[in-house]
Amino acid sequence: MEFEFITVNESYAKHIALIQLNRPKELNALNLQLMLELKRAFQLLDDNDEVRCIVITGNDQAFAAGADIKQMENKSAIDLLKIDQFETWDQIRKTKKPIIAAVSGFALGGGCELVMTCDIIIASETAKFGQPEIKLGIMPGAGGTQRLTKAVGKALAMEMVLTGKFISAEEALASGLINKVVPIELYLEEAVKMAKEIAVQSPIAIRLAKESVLKAFDSSLQEGLYFERKNFYMCFASEDQKEGMKAFVEKRKPVFIGK
Ligand code: HXC
Repeated sequence: MEFEFITVNESYAKHIALIQLNRPKELNALNLQLMLELKRAFQLLDDNDEVRCIVITGNDQAFAAGADIKQMENKSAIDLLKIDQFETWDQIRKTKKPIIAAVSGFALGGGCELVMTCDIIIASETAKFGQPEIKLGIMPGAGGTQRLTKAVGKALAMEMVLTGKFISAEEALASGLINKVVPIELYLEEAVKMAKEIAVQSPIAIRLAKESVLKAFDSSLQEGLYFERKNFYMCFASEDQKEGMKAFVEKRKPVFIGK
C-alpha cells in the first residue's frame, strides 16, 4: 500500500498490522489527505483476513497535534460540510478488528479524538492529552465532548474542553481515559504485546465481544444486554468455540482459525 502521510505494515507481527502517522515536522497534524489515507488503510486492514488486530501510533514527540489548523484556517462552514472529514473517525469506529493506540507526546484535538476512537490506549509517560480547540475559538467536533465525557466523567471533561488544558499520561490513566502508562522506550512494544494477546484469540469471538462492549456506549442497559446475549449465542456458531472448549477439556492451548 502506498501512502504519503502514513505508513502501513500489514504484517508487522503475526496477525498484527501497524499504522504509523508520518508527518513528523508538523507533529502529525491531521491534514485532509492524511485522514483520507487513514480511512483507506482501516478499510483495507479490516478486509484483510490475515489481520486480527491493528496498532496505530505516531512518533515519540507526537501521536497527533490535532487537525491541520493551517488547512482549516480559511474554511467556511459549508466547505467543512462538503469535505465531511468526520467520515474517517466514523470509519475507525466501524472497524471490526480491535484497534490499539500507542501514544507518545501530544494527542490533542482531533488527535485525542482519534485516540479515543480506538479500543485500547497504551501511552508513554511523556504523553499529553487535550482538547485545546477552545483556544482557537472553536470546540471539539470529532467526538471530544462525547467520548471524553463518557471516559473521564463530566468534571474533568468540562475542565479540559472549556480551558483547553492538557492532562499527563498519569492523569489520563487515573481518570480512566487510557489503559496503561509505560516508559517511552516501551509504548509501542507494550501495545504490540497486548495486540498479540488479542490476536491469538478467536477472531469471531473478538469481533462479537468488541461490538458488544461498544454497544454499551449508545444503548440502554437492557438493550445492551439483549445485544450481548445474541452475540454470545452467535459465538456457538463458530468452529473456534468448539476448538476453545475442546482444548480446555484436553488441557492444551487452542488454535483459533476464525471460522
Ligand atoms: C498545523 C501544526 C499543528 C496543527 C503543530 N503544528 N500543531 N500545524 N496544525 N494542529 C506545527 C507548527 O505550526 C509547527 O510548524 C510545528 O508543527 C511544530 O509545532 P510548534 O508549535 O513549533 O511546537 P511546540 O512549541 O513544541 O508546541 C507543540 C504544541 C503546539 C503545543 C502541540 O504545536 C500546538 O498548540 N499545536 C496546536 C494544537 C491544537 O490546537 N490542536 C487542535 C487543532 S483543532 P512550523 O512550520 O510553524 O514550524 C482540531 C479540531 C479537530 O483538532 C476537529 C475534527 C476535524
